[in-house]
Amino acid sequence: MTGPQPSSTSEQAEIVRICQDHGNDPHRMLDILRAIQDRFRCISRATMKTVAAETELTEIAVEGVASFYAFLSLEPKGRITIRLCDDIVDRFAGLPKVTEAFETALGIKVGETSADGAFSLEYTPCIGMCDQAPAAMINDVMLTELTPEKVRKITETLMSGRRPEDLISHRFDDLTPYERAHRMVENNIRHAGAVLLGHVPDDAGLKTSLDLQPSQIIDMVEASGLRGCGGAGFTSGRKWRFASEAEGEHRVIICNADEGEPGTFKDRVLLTERPHLMIEGMTIAARAVGASEGIIYLRGEYVYLRELIEEVLADRRARGLLGKDILGARGFDFDIRLQLGAGAYICGEEGALISSCEGLPGEPKTRPPFPVTRGYLGLPTVVNNVETFCHAARILDRGAKWFFDMGTEGSHGTKLFSVSGDCLNPGIYELPYGLSVRELLEMAGGEDAAAVLVGGPSGTMIARDTFDRKLTFDDLATGGAIVVFSGERNILEIVEYYMSFFVHESCGYCTPCRVGNVFLQKAVGKFRKGLANPADIEYLRDLSSTIIETSRCGLGMTSPNPILSTLENFPLVYSAMVKPSEDRIRATFDIQSAIADARQLAKRRSYILDKDFGE
Ligand SMILES: Cc1cc2nc3c(=O)[nH]c(=O)nc-3n(C[C@H](O)[C@H](O)[C@H](O)COP(=O)(O)O)c2cc1C
Ligand code: SF4
Repeated sequence: MTGPQPSSTSEQAEIVRICQDHGNDPHRMLDILRAIQDRFRCISRATMKTVAAETELTEIAVEGVASFYAFLSLEPKGRITIRLCDDIVDRFAGLPKVTEAFETALGIKVGETSADGAFSLEYTPCIGMCDQAPAAMINDVMLTELTPEKVRKITETLMSGRRPEDLISHRFDDLTPYERAHRMVENNIRHAGAVLLGHVPDDAGLKTSLDLQPSQIIDMVEASGLRGCGGAGFTSGRKWRFASEAEGEHRVIICNADEGEPGTFKDRVLLTERPHLMIEGMTIAARAVGASEGIIYLRGEYVYLRELIEEVLADRRARGLLGKDILGARGFDFDIRLQLGAGAYICGEEGALISSCEGLPGEPKTRPPFPVTRGYLGLPTVVNNVETFCHAARILDRGAKWFFDMGTEGSHGTKLFSVSGDCLNPGIYELPYGLSVRELLEMAGGEDAAAVLVGGPSGTMIARDTFDRKLTFDDLATGGAIVVFSGERNILEIVEYYMSFFVHESCGYCTPCRVGNVFLQKAVGKFRKGLANPADIEYLRDLSSTIIETSRCGLGMTSPNPILSTLENFPLVYSAMVKPSEDRIRATFDIQSAIADARQLAKRRSYILDKDFGE
């Protein structure tokens, strides 16, 4: 297939212009390559050469970025790229029939591009729409609750030459960014709590912060008991204090809007409904730690929210809420840029996220140093989740005690839960910490559940007999994903899917994660086929603990969780599938010798110490 590869002089000139629009800055490499991908549908070798010359990097460095991200392609893509969400929730909600309908209508299989270069069809991991699955991205447009009938209409429209935007509304161009986002995606707010989704006055927290000393702001956030909502639950006030005390004149605030954990979509709703509150929280953090620069890292899958957030940023600049001397406070200068990702789950890990913001492949960084002392471009950096910033703004408005008094002893305030899967009312529930899984299931119409995945695949899968466990940091910690599975679902199919997700998303830096997860996935496949030996259960445990112990970042340290938690809570699922045989899985690969070198390379630090610094 031939695509519009930039071979002519005018096309090369256009690439030079794209680089110049980004100041020929190598740290803007992801933006540069995204712009080229959008324009030419691929990053060709000639392009990489031009980009390398313009940004004064080597071609290898440019290729390293271009080849890392799933949404960038070295091969030409179709003018319209259809990315079907391949999450297990989508599969159970009818993805196979939706896929078949696309393949039949377009005359291509998943993974192919049509001969005329009009369409590419591919699968992509969770795109944050589990409450309205099956879903797909068509270029920058999000489509949800797909059925074969809808697919027939979609493909007819697109094949008649209309734009993906026309699928949303024939007057798409006249809609505001907020209206566009709403037309594409439902919010499904099922329960609004007192902190985030109820009434929120405009910038009340920011105004309070202007009357306080930076250290008083940090004291207040610390006294509230606020813990990070991205999953690890590190105390936010402490993180801000570390950054404020770090050496250096410039500091950076990064909002982690990467939201890639399968089953999580609460940040999507905050980004749509509470973007001002999130930016208010970032601005308060900037005042607290003395930062002048902010970045919102928005996952590539949420590109449909880009113009909405850009509009909010522009509005706040115009009203003196961002920029120089914010709200008249002399010397309080802070502004924010939006960094769009390009399809890589690992970029949610804060080191990888910082690498990505720096224009590098999204690989985790070796720790220490931690971002609070040496983060973005070597500057002290606070990375917090979208929800954490929103909470911080509310705490400054309503006070530490108000927040502290909600929830439980070790988990204060409210939490957004993204509930999806086999329940009647999938969506967002803002609830105080401390509810049991059973209580949440009753609210969501998921009483018939046989299994619930709390915290996404890197979390815990629990069985019906433990639904009284509590949603708190002290019991079942979660960044917010709650995926409900009925008794009709095959647990091993679910586990095998999640292992394939980790295999796909491993950045490949360390052998235990890169290789070990492939072996775990294969081993689960053997259990599913009834080809495993009783001793292979021990093999799964051994290999899992080796991967956890020797991986460099949180992805590898949690990737065996789907296996470990189901071995623990659904042991019969495994034991029912084994039979005595000589053909043991273990014999096929010796992970210990394969990772001997990796152990040396990774120089793994103690996990306990990492936890102390926010992971
Ligand atoms: C593989 C991996 C993916 C992650 N993805 C996200 C994410 O999408 N969003 C997020 O806020 N934190 C994510 N985290 C956690 C971040 O590394 C970091 O702890 C968090 O952004 C800190 O913010 P918080 O303290 O407000 O939670 C991820 C961690 C790992 C190991
Ligand atoms: S544990 Fe996995 S994702 Fe993390 S650095 Fe190693 S290979 Fe990359």
